[in-house]
Amino acid sequence: MDRPIVNRNDRFIDLHLHLDGAVTPLIARRLGEMQGMALPEDELLEKQLCVPPECLSLNDFLRCFELPLTLLQTREALAECTKLVCKSLAEQGVVYAEIRFAPQLHCQRGMSQEDAVRAVLDGLESCPFDAGLILCCMRGRGNEKENAETLALTAKYLSAEGGAAAMDLAGAEALFPTRNYRELFENAADKGIPFTIHAGEADGADSIREAVNFGASRIGHGVRCFEDGALAELVREKGIPLEMCLTSNRQTHAVENMAEHPFMRYFSQGLKVTLNTDDPAIERTDIAAEYRYAEELFGIDGKQKRQLLENAVEAAFAGERVKARVRAELGLAAGGAVDG
Ligand code: ADE
Ligand code: ZN
Repeated sequence: MDRPIVNRNDRFIDLHLHLDGAVTPLIARRLGEMQGMALPEDELLEKQLCVPPECLSLNDFLRCFELPLTLLQTREALAECTKLVCKSLAEQGVVYAEIRFAPQLHCQRGMSQEDAVRAVLDGLESCPFDAGLILCCMRGRGNEKENAETLALTAKYLSAEGGAAAMDLAGAEALFPTRNYRELFENAADKGIPFTIHAGEADGADSIREAVNFGASRIGHGVRCFEDGALAELVREKGIPLEMCLTSNRQTHAVENMAEHPFMRYFSQGLKVTLNTDDPAIERTDIAAEYRYAEELFGIDGKQKRQLLENAVEAAFAGERVKARVRAELGLAAGGAVDG
């Protein structure tokens, strides 16, 4: 039998990971303790922090964030959570990650968006590996001011090393279509802010086309790109990386039959596919498990695994110095070529 593609001591990159989706029961206990907040006993806590079996859509999935968000309304809690998530990722072999969060979701108890950004940046200072921060705007109604503030903060803290790396748009794509955010992303582009957009996850190919037209450097998920062949070709030609997240797609029902997930089709067509977790605690996954899942579903081999990692290095919102260091840690060739 062939050796499995994932082994102990393997190294990984995760470019699409939500901080509030990475709150494990253990992290939740620590955050609860810090704040004198009583949490339910283990079984119930786990239930509240993980996606339920009856989850039928992204809208259902997004309800799982209620408890993590309740626990993340102070600077201390946000910084501590960031530290603990980084520590856990390092233990899983992650050598580079981009952690994202929506500062506007952390202002329920007096923190400003800027306080929240500073708290997460504080937490990232002790991260044992190179990590970038992506600030998420949120799909919704009546939060235009909040999104504009997130944009202004991204511009203020933008730096390839140590500050914010990029902006994103997260939330309920089927309810609040990407076309509603033209002005926001025109402003981002004017300010030279790189951005990724969750698109083609709960909505169709048009959502991805809008994101590409806005000037997105990367696409979050992009599952439904195949519905428009010309768009898939455009995404390939422009080399726009797709941040794919397999377990998430199964649980949100972005894909009904995982054997027919377009991951391999895109990969074979030469689209820049990357593999990520999205919300590891909520999904009960981690990055190694996602690679194992890709092996089980599509039979990816060691060379394809290295290509996925190389794609992730190329796609990273990081400077060349960081990329060179990460390639070295992953054992990838300096020039980006992937050997057999
Ligand atoms: N926020 C957290 N996970 C998300 C997802 N998969 N899609 C959109 N917004 C999210
Ligand atoms: Zn996401």
